[in-house]
Amino acid sequence: MIIVIDGPAGSGKSSTAREIADRLNIGFLDSGALYRTITFLWLKAGKPEKAGFFENLPEHDLKVEYRDQIFHVQANGEDITKEIRKHEVASNVSEIASHPEARAFVNGFMRRLVDNSTYIADGRDLGTAVFPDADLKFYMDASIKERAKRRFDEMDDPDVTLQDVEKNLKSRDQKDRNRKADPLKQADDAVVIDTTGKTFDEQVAEMISIIDEKLKLN
Ligand code: DC
Repeated sequence: MIIVIDGPAGSGKSSTAREIADRLNIGFLDSGALYRTITFLWLKAGKPEKAGFFENLPEHDLKVEYRDQIFHVQANGEDITKEIRKHEVASNVSEIASHPEARAFVNGFMRRLVDNSTYIADGRDLGTAVFPDADLKFYMDASIKERAKRRFDEMDDPDVTLQDVEKNLKSRDQKDRNRKADPLKQADDAVVIDTTGKTFDEQVAEMISIIDEKLKLN
């Protein structure tokens, strides 16, 4: 069974999905972390020519594990959980994620992972492109100011200002919404949750009650 949450960066998808996963005792999958992982690997390799880099992606040994509210990522034996949250990765990830080859790799990885278990996953195109038959689809949104503030508060990068974060979010939104390959888009059958002005507990409670009603997981 798969529940998906799509929406722009900073709309609260990931923290909400983690909380719901903990409360319902199901798996959590952070698709953005997978795009960040690829971006990290590309930067680490010295920005090689993309076609060859994408072709060789299956050769990397990637492991993901959700525990203690953190989506841990390991690449080729190295724990890169913190590295993938850095500004340099954030500044390059939309460009990397715009390539169909990158999307095909991430989508295959996710579909294999969720096979036969119950997950809540967050991303941009999960309800439209990756899991069009998802059991339940949410689309979360919030104002740009609120999203930038949230992202800034959770960042661990002393060189970055709130203005930098807002600028980065605006540019990523624009790229995510307008790219040709599986853009950020609300699925027709998604339940829309606008989190502007809502507390975290309120939005989690609202979504859990929808999940309870539709899927009877508890
Ligand atoms: O959720 P996030 O900010 O960690 O995602 C990082 C980037 O990955 C985001 O700018 C766009 C891309 N992404 C995507 O293209 N499709 C997804 N399903 C998830 C993320």
